[in-house]
Amino acid sequence: MNGIDLSVEIAGLKFKNPILLASGTVGYGYEISQFLDLNKIGGIVTKSISLKPRKGNPPQRIVETASGMLNAIGLANVGVEEFLKDKIPFLKQYDTNIICNIAASTIEEYVECVKILTTEDAIHAFEINVSCPNVKEGGLIFGNDPDQVSTITAAVKAVTSKPVFIKLSPNTARIADFAIRAKENGADAVSAINTLVGTAFNIWTRKPKIHNVTGGLSGPAIKPVALAKVLEISRNCDIPIIGIGGISNSDDVLEFMIAGATAIQLGTINFVQPDAATKIVNGLINYCETMKINKLRSLTASYELN
Ligand SMILES: Cc1cc2nc3c(=O)[nH]c(=O)nc-3n(C[C@H](O)[C@H](O)[C@H](O)COP(=O)(O)O)c2cc1C
Repeated sequence: MNGIDLSVEIAGLKFKNPILLASGTVGYGYEISQFLDLNKIGGIVTKSISLKPRKGNPPQRIVETASGMLNAIGLANVGVEEFLKDKIPFLKQYDTNIICNIAASTIEEYVECVKILTTEDAIHAFEINVSCPNVKEGGLIFGNDPDQVSTITAAVKAVTSKPVFIKLSPNTARIADFAIRAKENGADAVSAINTLVGTAFNIWTRKPKIHNVTGGLSGPAIKPVALAKVLEISRNCDIPIIGIGGISNSDDVLEFMIAGATAIQLGTINFVQPDAATKIVNGLINYCETMKINKLRSLTASYELN
């Protein structure tokens, strides 16, 4: 590797490179492991896990859009018990970081999930998905209320000594305020961004193309928005940022790092090109060689604004 150091660190947790796989786009790692050597990436973020298994929404749950896709999976997952019994044993054979993403309908459920999962040594960190409806508060999304983000962060941090990343929603006026709240309450990093709310209609039936009416937009279509959100956080809050949104190649990764990201996650690209992560790691090495950069991490927040 010509002495080029691609490693990054967040809250004392070392990643061999900044490339992580995003929650919900690779399940629990099994299928993508047929295309990609998971030992070669910095980490994998597992599908959002809830306390009990969830079936998710009825189909149609996914539709392709211009340069992206809409999904309304509805957090279908196997639940904490089966995750620990059946999914972790497969993942832990790999030399990579396992970041467990948690979804919940109440603050108590977030806490309960983390309390159980934190006893598993193979889990290196938690990513808290706050883009979930709060059933106790009439279904309002946790991630749209800074007070709720504060409460969840503090409550989760109180029951684990592992790093906690708060995954922020872009569907707010000022994402940096949420990052500030997460940091004040002990978050080790923020992941930005989750999907943008969108919809699509069938002109012949006049019905929405997805059963849930609205879904989350992801893919290259959202990259400039995600990049602007990462930059906004970087300029207003001193917290490690894990950049997510439409990243498809090594140039995209470099842009996110320059805009403030310490690490990044690949989402929708995994459906299109399941070995994208390998190509991206090679692309990062080539860039460092060309630019005579020894440590890739020196790029983080290296932007020069006019
Ligand atoms: C089919 C699908 C399912 C997803 N499921 C989850 C999920 O369970 N939890 C979560 O935090 N994010 C979920 N996401 C959001 C992604 O992790 C990521 O934040 C988003 O797709 C933006 O990245 P991308 O443009 O690279 O896909 C999902 C995205 C897609 C496309």
